[in-house]
Amino acid sequence: MQLLRGAAGVAAFLGMAKRQFDPDSKPYVDTETGLTFASYTSERGITFRVAIPDPVPADNDFETVLQLIAPHDVGWAGFAWGGTMTYNPLAIAWANGTTNVVLSSRIAYGYYTPPEYPQAQYTILKTGTHVNATHWQLTTSCKGCSAWGDDEIGKTNIDPQYQTTMAFAYSNNPVDTPASPESSFGIHDSLGHPIFDLMTGKNADFGAKITKLSGASPAPRDVAEECEE
Ligand code: HEM
Repeated sequence: MQLLRGAAGVAAFLGMAKRQFDPDSKPYVDTETGLTFASYTSERGITFRVAIPDPVPADNDFETVLQLIAPHDVGWAGFAWGGTMTYNPLAIAWANGTTNVVLSSRIAYGYYTPPEYPQAQYTILKTGTHVNATHWQLTTSCKGCSAWGDDEIGKTNIDPQYQTTMAFAYSNNPVDTPASPESSFGIHDSLGHPIFDLMTGKNADFGAKITKLSGASPAPRDVAEECEE
């Protein structure tokens, strides 16, 4: 019998692998944005999707896209990038009236209303963000949602090579001031910890696609150089 050597050998012997378990997320191609997501829908009918770049940079500090779709009778829904309530970027969204969706970047340092968290920089993508008769939908990019923290709270990053436990929470009650991202809101009615396989949400030319979806104009070209004979 061949000898199993080192950590890889032990892992193989124990039947462990980076992607051993059936994830809760499924691959999803969104025809509206053209992005491929790892997508999870909760029992309450709230969908959370994550897209990442292909290739993934070696330091795992990359831009991400979150798509969140919720029925109108959901007051707020939140996504925790690190899979717990505390010490990781939280994206919380809600509908403001019948046309707008508001996104708030927060972080929790305990089990109380999470304060704002400017370190995660979200850009709402116009394509993919809207309200219809039954649902509100947000699509946003984020810088600072795959790697976060500092010496004080510790540094963490998502490694898409491994299946990733995310977390979500929602409330059936509306937030206090829907027009404001700084709004206070009450505790969740329910939450979950779905396992995502982010490798199924990889996208080539990710940065260019995000710029296009955000409605931003591309970087200006050097006209002088172009006009040179
Ligand atoms: C007013 C706002 C909030 C309050 C007062 C609150 C409070 C709490 C409390 C008391 C627990 C239970 C802890 C336990 O029994 O173990 C909890 C757990 C949890 N909360 Fe919140 N929460 C709030 C907002 C949020 C938001 C916005 C999210 C995510 C986006 C979130 C995600 C979670 C998760 C995932 C757990 C399960 C424990 C964990 O995985 O860390 N919470 N929360």
